[in-house]
Amino acid sequence: MLNTVTETLLMGPGPSLVSQSVRDAMARPTIGHLDPRFIAIMDEVKSMLRTAMETGNDLTIPLSGTGSAGMEASFVNFVEPGDAVLVLINGVFGLRMREVASRLGAKVTALEFDWGQPVVPGRVRAALAAGSYDLVAVVHAETSTGVRNPVEEIAPIVAGTDALFLVDTVTSLGGVPVSVDAWGADIVYSGTQKCLSCPPGLAPLTVSERGRDRLRRRTSPVPNWYLDLTLLTSYWEGAKRSYHHTAPINMIYALHQALANLIDEGLDATHRRHAAAHERLAAGLPRLGLSMLVDEGSRLPMLNAVTVPEGVDEASIRRRLLEEHDIEIGAGLGPLAGKIWRVGLMGETARSEHVDRLLAALGDVL
Ligand SMILES: Cc1ncc(COP(=O)(O)O)c(C=O)c1O
Repeated sequence: MLNTVTETLLMGPGPSLVSQSVRDAMARPTIGHLDPRFIAIMDEVKSMLRTAMETGNDLTIPLSGTGSAGMEASFVNFVEPGDAVLVLINGVFGLRMREVASRLGAKVTALEFDWGQPVVPGRVRAALAAGSYDLVAVVHAETSTGVRNPVEEIAPIVAGTDALFLVDTVTSLGGVPVSVDAWGADIVYSGTQKCLSCPPGLAPLTVSERGRDRLRRRTSPVPNWYLDLTLLTSYWEGAKRSYHHTAPINMIYALHQALANLIDEGLDATHRRHAAAHERLAAGLPRLGLSMLVDEGSRLPMLNAVTVPEGVDEASIRRRLLEEHDIEIGAGLGPLAGKIWRVGLMGETARSEHVDRLLAALGDVL
């Protein structure tokens, strides 16, 4: 059955194309997870993650699990029952944050914004002036709508309070700047399968000293053993490492190579490549009678929500792109199901030749 898997141009909301160097890294021999050579690889991964996330945080590690493990870990470690949590919601992943925080017994307040529109900083300021919160959470790149939330404007508002600031950068990391220290964010997580161009399977996470302090002062144990950072740090930090769980060795090789590729190209150059691919797509769509859902100023370069024209069966277009052109694009989620396609220009996918191939294929199937 594996023989049926052939190369598809991945232009959906993730996973994105994985480069040959990352695939080769994954194929290297598996070694023991406490082998000194593997510990050295772990340390290099932590250091390169700090570069990618623009942070000096000591606690910067990839969690074993997909982006959702990053979300779960971010709430389960830093939220205790009864804590007041403010979640800024303008899409599916903000809704998920609310669900995760609620399951932990937090008092969750949802500040909701229209899907397809960004979070409005003035409303965040008003909410924080009206109530006091232990944690404020936002999704930087809302993958369900293609909106970039103005984290750089929200961050100083949260910084004026005692709340921890939690940011989801699953889709943004590697595609636009994720400036953890400049934002003053306390907990930031991501995923590997989007702009890092690595297969799905790890969730980079970084925590500020303020965040670690909150963790130390918890009055109840972290209710999830696997994602408990107080235990995980004994495996990822210090001169003597002790077993917590068996790290997914070959996935860590893959992330090591993907981060090396990002740093070799340069963060700025990688971000410019994503922007250029996005502009090429946005310029080409009107020629096919297509338009973007999100206003120009709030568009994500790596996730383009394209409005499905009246009378077009969006699922049949996606199916024909896959069957006749080996191109995958994504469907809309929730209230946007049937109304948009989601075109990912993430990592290795964000290249002009891929945009041109998609535009030609869309011209054919439409
Ligand atoms: C913004 C955002 N957060 C969290 C997730 C969950 O990540 P995963 O599907 O890797 O578990 C996704 C996945 O698309 C996402 O886009």
